[in-house]
Formats: sequence, structure tokens, C-alpha cells
Amino acid sequence: MKKAFILVAALMMTGSLALAYAASVDKGKALFESPSLGGGTTGKSCSTCHEGGKNLGSDLFERKQFTIMKMDKKSLAEVINICIEKPLGGAAIDPQGQDMKDLIAYMKTLVTKPVTKKTPKKIEGC
Ligand code: HEC
Repeated sequence: MKKAFILVAALMMTGSLALAYAASVDKGKALFESPSLGGGTTGKSCSTCHEGGKNLGSDLFERKQFTIMKMDKKSLAEVINICIEKPLGGAAIDPQGQDMKDLIAYMKTLVTKPVTKKTPKKIEGC
């Protein structure tokens, strides 16, 4: 009986841990659309300027180097924090934190790779 209880408790704990660590696209979307992200003061949210992935490079998740507002940044989290500090007028959030993970998970759904277009072959003799 006691064993069963411990087992159930352990399962519940691992379950909630998994939930806590998995990035949530839905939560990320809410953060992306929230003007109070990072304690923002300008009334703007990420989606004010980046709705549907606008102004986000399609290669955003493949880059190793970033340049934003003429500043060189090594990680996407730093770039996001610049946008939280400047346009949102907020304070940088934890680059390793859950909010950042969720935000990035949602942004991945916005940035789609461009469809590689094949140049149609010229049909000879037409
Ligand atoms: C007032 C408009 C504005 C708001 C609000 C804004 N951004 Fe930006 N963002 C920009 C502009 C403009 C650039 C391009 C800057 C540059 O290239 O120097 C940019 C660039 C970026 C980039 C780099 C894109 C690339 O392809 O290099 C990311 C990532 C980004 N923003 C994320 C965010 C996030 C996340 C938020 C919300 C916290 C946000 N932005 C809010 C205007 C905004």
C-alpha cells in the first residue's frame, strides 16, 4: 500500500516536472502578445512589430551570430532581451528561464523556412 502511494507520488512529481520543463508554445504566444512582458512600459508587445513573424529573418534559428541595432549578439535570447529593453521599455528576462523558452518555442512556429523554388527547365523546341 505504501509502495503504491510512493509510486503514484513519484509519477505525479515527474509529470509536473516534465510539464515545467517542456516549452509551451501557447504560453509563448501569450508572452509574445503581452505588453507587460519584462514589465514593459511602452504599451507595445512583440507582436506589435513582429506579428506573424514580420521582421524576423527566416534563418533566425540557424544563425550563430546576430546583429541587432548595430550590436553583435551571440544568442537569440540576448537579441530578444534587447527588444524587451528597447521597444517594450521593460527589463531583460532570464535568458535560461521558462518564459524565454516558451517565447522561443512560439517564435519557431512563426519563422518558417522559405520554400526553395526550383527554376523551371526551359522546354526546348516550343
Ligand atoms: C517597436 C517595434 C518592435 C517591437 C515591439 C519588438 N521588436 Fe524585435 N525587432 C524590431 C526591429 C526594427 C528589429 C530589427 C533590428 C535590427 O535589425 O537592427 C527587430 C529584431 C528582432 C529580432 C532579430 C530578427 C532577425 O532576424 O535578426 C528578434 C529575434 C526580435 N526582434 C524579437 C522580438 C521580441 C521577442 C519582441 C518582444 C519582446 C520584440 N522583438 C519586440 C522591432 C521591434
